[in-house]
Amino acid sequence: TTSEIAPTKCVGPDYRAEEQKPTATVSTAVNFDNVTVLSQTPQLIALLSIIRDKRTDRGDFIFYSNRIIRLLVEEGLNHLPTVEHPVTTPVGRMYDGLAFQGKICGVSIMRAGEAMEQGLRDCCRSVRIGKILIQRDEETAQPKLFYDKLPEDIADRWVLLLDPMFATGGSAIMAVEVLKSRGVPEERIIFLNILASPEGISNFASKFPKLRTVTAFIDQGLDDKNYIVPGLGDFGDRYYSM
Ligand code: URA
Repeated sequence: TTSEIAPTKCVGPDYRAEEQKPTATVSTAVNFDNVTVLSQTPQLIALLSIIRDKRTDRGDFIFYSNRIIRLLVEEGLNHLPTVEHPVTTPVGRMYDGLAFQGKICGVSIMRAGEAMEQGLRDCCRSVRIGKILIQRDEETAQPKLFYDKLPEDIADRWVLLLDPMFATGGSAIMAVEVLKSRGVPEERIIFLNILASPEGISNFASKFPKLRTVTAFIDQGLDDKNYIVPGLGDFGDRYYSM
């Protein structure tokens, strides 16, 4: 299944005339209030071009994926609640600021999601991180929970759920079911993802209307092996294998 239109747009700073901007394929737009697609800036498109390129070596794949992950984490954190927090500056003046409210944790869907843990740690000092391993059950061909290790007080936390590739959505859906069974309400889960398929996104957004997804890009579709297309291949292989 592949969406008909791969949108091509002029990408560049607003102050430039359209004809002065290069064109590139940008994310498919979606109409879900609970899905945020990162702004399709020249930086993001150039970073995605590097990690999508089959000639990119592992060192560059890691470096440039990490930059995209950092953007996702920063955007994801904007969806957390804040409270008013006035402070006094060293020159004795007041500043009407904000403070983060509520405890958070990361939960990575193994193995590719573990690649996103460091980006979260870089933004949130000593953040708690849990893990979920879901694999296809050889007998039923359905996703199956093989292992989880989650903070014991996870029900009191906001959860940033980490998985870079969102193809059919099977593992992410199961991961959300696990979190909900441990008492985490859907509205306290934020799913961070680099590349999604339109079918995965619409499945997820309608199944979990209160959960928020932040993704860098919604691609065209899936191929017959459920790889995202045009995609970037197998994320875990490219990030972890020589
Ligand atoms: N997982 C990947 O690593 N790549 C895909 O294209 C789909 C799922």
